[in-house]
Amino acid sequence: MNDAPIGIFDSGIGGLTVARAIYERLPSERTIYFGDTARVPYGPKSPETVRRYSREILDWLLGQGVKAVVVACNTSTAHALEALRAASPVPVLGVIEPGSRAAVAAAPRGSIGVIGTAGTIASDAYGRAIRSLRPDATVVQQPCPLLVPLVEEGWFEHPASRLVAEEYLGPMRAARVEALVLGCTHYPLLKPLLAEVMGPGVTLVDSAEETARALAEVLAESGLAAPGGGPGTHRFVVSDDQPRFLQVGSRFLGERLTEAELVAVG
Ligand code: DGL
Repeated sequence: MNDAPIGIFDSGIGGLTVARAIYERLPSERTIYFGDTARVPYGPKSPETVRRYSREILDWLLGQGVKAVVVACNTSTAHALEALRAASPVPVLGVIEPGSRAAVAAAPRGSIGVIGTAGTIASDAYGRAIRSLRPDATVVQQPCPLLVPLVEEGWFEHPASRLVAEEYLGPMRAARVEALVLGCTHYPLLKPLLAEVMGPGVTLVDSAEETARALAEVLAESGLAAPGGGPGTHRFVVSDDQPRFLQVGSRFLGERLTEAELVAVG
């Protein structure tokens, strides 16, 4: 048993979809969420830059005494997970392995689509993770950079979002993928729209839920789970613009966010 908090970090607001899944699955755990709102987006940045930012945040979280770290950002996971694991004395989980496992389970023929930021798709991190589980898998990947700002605008069902999604997902539909991995923190909020655009028979894989499940396993296996006895408390920390984090973040979290601290890293 271990009462220390879990660190969760993202390039900004989107990782709150992962935080939400963790709160639901592990209600007794305390958490510290760090959103790098000063330096978002990570999607178009170079692997080196994303690795440096991610390392700075890891160091800050470790300084807060966390017992495990969840990299909620797909782009950060794609570029930095190995480096973070090598540098961390506590377990570090990313969102790509859990999401890939769920995708393979949902695709009997091994035909899988992946959407994400430019950085995530260029890294082929999902492709490698999926093929390591199923070498004969066909992985169709598509960067969808325009979806992030549309989600932050709250345009979950807006005709503009539908048009963009139809354009991006055309190759996925043509390839008849059986599962589509939502490989970016923001996409779970577009689930109904993306499901409609993909049509029936395609399973949408939400990395957030799978990551929360993987975290529960790691905590149980390593004896790090909270003793329980009451709901965990949640601390929110950002590197810039608390008002926008509170306003937009509430949408991602599904409940009202009232407080966020400001911390400069790097
Ligand atoms: N959090 C990022 C991800 O999941 C999306 C936003 C960004 O580009 O920073 O890849």
